[in-house]
Amino acid sequence: MNAVAAQHARVLSGMRPTGRLHLGHYHGVLKNWVELQHEYQCFFFVADWHALTTHYDDPSAIPQSTWDMVIDWLAAGVNPKEATLFVQSRVPEHAELHLLLSMITPLSWLERVPSYKDQQEKLKEKDLSTYGFLGYPLLQSADILVYRAGLVPVGEDQVAHVELTREVARRFNHIYGRETDFEQKAEQAIKKIGKKAAKLFNNYRRAWQEQGDDEALAAAHALLEAQQNIGVADRDRLFGYLEGGGKVILPEPQPLLTRASKMPGLDGHKMSKSYGNTISLSAPPAKVEQQLRTMPTDPARVRRSDPGEPEKCPVWQFHLVYSDERTQEWVQEGCRSAGIGCLECKQPVIDAVLAELKPIQERAREYEEQPEVVQNIINEGCETAREVARETMDEVRHAMSLDY
Ligand code: TRP
Ligand code: SF4
Repeated sequence: MNAVAAQHARVLSGMRPTGRLHLGHYHGVLKNWVELQHEYQCFFFVADWHALTTHYDDPSAIPQSTWDMVIDWLAAGVNPKEATLFVQSRVPEHAELHLLLSMITPLSWLERVPSYKDQQEKLKEKDLSTYGFLGYPLLQSADILVYRAGLVPVGEDQVAHVELTREVARRFNHIYGRETDFEQKAEQAIKKIGKKAAKLFNNYRRAWQEQGDDEALAAAHALLEAQQNIGVADRDRLFGYLEGGGKVILPEPQPLLTRASKMPGLDGHKMSKSYGNTISLSAPPAKVEQQLRTMPTDPARVRRSDPGEPEKCPVWQFHLVYSDERTQEWVQEGCRSAGIGCLECKQPVIDAVLAELKPIQERAREYEEQPEVVQNIINEGCETAREVARETMDEVRHAMSLDY
């Protein structure tokens, strides 16, 4: 596959190794990954080098956190037969591309990434004045571009990093996609696709370059993707020629914004480890039940006979995630009329959360009992990932005159 065609089919995302995951991860990220794996060629990886950018002083927890997290991915239904699961530090091509990209990335692009200042302010107790921390969004760019991924599922906070990736890719293609005889080579490639296709291509190209006709651009993409009789390099040239640049070596990815998870924490705020309001995917049922039973409700309901307001109650947020319309009506009605008690109201939520966790925990147990199976999944994933990354790096090295 050529760079642009491969890109359409490929999804890449990564997570820092944080150890055991919770329901917020499940509803916010993992369910999405499980859906995507049926539709795309998916690469999901443990961003262990990224963890070092903020935790270089104590990396000792990273290995265990990695295995725990991978088990939770598998337990949540990420299927190693469908998706490629791997660990960043086992694919050194990420580091090579990061280094090469660092040569062309203006310092100011990194300094203005919003997370740079935000995190420094938020994590005051940490030393974040390192080269590695400044460069981590560029490492993320390398993570994405080394697979020439087209879609990157991320949360809102990461969109700026995908945007940086697009700018870096554009700059890379601009500098290194310009072969000395690019125009001639492109014209020769056009000849190879046949008279009819060539005429269409030229018309689409003109319509796009002169009138900015999006449909013509899309039609030209489809036309190029359907061509059987040109090689990868020629096709990449034509994609570049079409848009008026050089050869597209690193295609620009798009963020795939994960719908913001509605999953509330036990206190009604967003579920997050740093707030201490999580329900762990691996929590024993008795603990989950106790956590939900003791979670706060509308403070107006001091006595059982006091009416309440679901909108002011974190339990209602759980009903929005877990309950059908009938149950939701029963809550609204029963709460406002003091017809039901809070424990009664929580019971359907407790049942639903336990039912959701049961198959996840059963699968987790199987993997925990066979750590070598998990290791093999990662070993195989690393190999698959490395093959793809190597192909990209061959082209990158060639474009940068480093293949001598
Ligand atoms: N920076 C991301 C985070 O903190 C993790 C990450 C690293 C990532 N590399 C990536 C996500 C590449 C998507 C694509 O959540
Ligand atoms: Fe919350 Fe339900 Fe109690 Fe109303 S009845 S306050 S919604 S737990």
